[in-house]
Amino acid sequence: MTMADTLTGATAEAIALDNAYAAHNYSPLPVVASHARGAWITDVEGRRYLDCLAAYSAVNFGHHNDEIVAAAHRQLDALTLVSRAFHSDQLGPFCAALAGLCGKDMVLPMNSGAEAVESGLKIARKWGADVKGIAAGMANIVVAENNFHGRTISIVSFSSDDTARGGFGPFTPGFRSVPFGDADAVAAAIDENTVAVLIEPIQGEAGIIVPPDDYLPRLRAVCTQRNVLLIADEIQSGLARTGHTFACDHWGVVPDVYLLGKALGGGVVPLSAVVADRDILGVLHPGEHGSTFGGNPLAAAIGSTVVDILRRGEFQSRSAELGLHLHARLRSLIGHGVLAVRGMGLWAGVDIDERLGTGKQLSLALAERGVLVKDTHGSTLRFAPPLVITAEEIDWAVGQFASVLAQAGAHS
Ligand SMILES: Cc1ncc(COP(=O)(O)O)c(C=O)c1O
Repeated sequence: MTMADTLTGATAEAIALDNAYAAHNYSPLPVVASHARGAWITDVEGRRYLDCLAAYSAVNFGHHNDEIVAAAHRQLDALTLVSRAFHSDQLGPFCAALAGLCGKDMVLPMNSGAEAVESGLKIARKWGADVKGIAAGMANIVVAENNFHGRTISIVSFSSDDTARGGFGPFTPGFRSVPFGDADAVAAAIDENTVAVLIEPIQGEAGIIVPPDDYLPRLRAVCTQRNVLLIADEIQSGLARTGHTFACDHWGVVPDVYLLGKALGGGVVPLSAVVADRDILGVLHPGEHGSTFGGNPLAAAIGSTVVDILRRGEFQSRSAELGLHLHARLRSLIGHGVLAVRGMGLWAGVDIDERLGTGKQLSLALAERGVLVKDTHGSTLRFAPPLVITAEEIDWAVGQFASVLAQAGAHS
């Protein structure tokens, strides 16, 4: 019998209400969170779980990070929303701080990650039209197979996931997909109408896939040579997750455009951004793009605090150091139910021997033992805890994982 079969009390009630009234576009684990601090989530029945997902990296700085929550409280009492019809005293400082962190000139603030990606695609096309002189409707953008950039129609238009696309056509044209990690294939796909190459520096949803070391440097060189924008979707990989501020930093690569989201909102509000130099973001003029909530004072105050935290570097260091520990511990399970471990910093994709069960089954078994992870594809589990996790908590989580594998029939 599994956890899902034995739901009782407040948990069963909450899930029944979700199932009755919330669209079934997710398949969550049967855990009903009620409050959280740091790396720990407490459910409606008082059970505690070690969060090893961190809301897909949106909670990098821990649940209820005191500094972020204090900034949110202060701003809640002052001003929350004016739309972009007026200025606020929070937007300029936030954009200046984030541009500085990225080493770029300007910021376009949006809300969800998908909006940042959509905005990046629009900016690249507009840059192609205005700066490169590409004829109307002719622009193309090179993307990587098995990408995940969000869920809008244009974004799923270049997804290789049939479930994400099925029934949602007609799709947006203008994208060319080539294998991830293959810089020659990117170079071959670029023609005179190419405006951008869009990649995740490390593919997250695909299973934490780290490319060969020469991939990003070669993409940087080819984009510069062919006058094409290199757009890095750092929405999941960025903001300290991999042990650097950006995953691109591992290879010393600076893209033309950063797409940021998730942790930028401090685990409190949706806040995303496109960050680039003036010769790129300057192609947008009044009326050409926007969002009522983008850059609202509450989100901007929180975003400024997140940038302050990132400037201090403590979370980048934690992720780098504890990431080595997490990866070493997980690798010790290779041959005991684990086939491979990939990733960087506190971000690990763990392939499990399919004979032991699906990723979903193993996630359920781990939740029963108080550890929350999420499967990605088939039998891959993702470990991406809040970066406040301690070495002892990592040891405990990996210990529970070893027990789950042994229980499922792995050789110890
Ligand atoms: C790399 C990447 N880009 C974009 C998105 C979309 O972000 P959101 O769910 O906030 O729209 C995600 C979400 O997982 C992501 O991992």
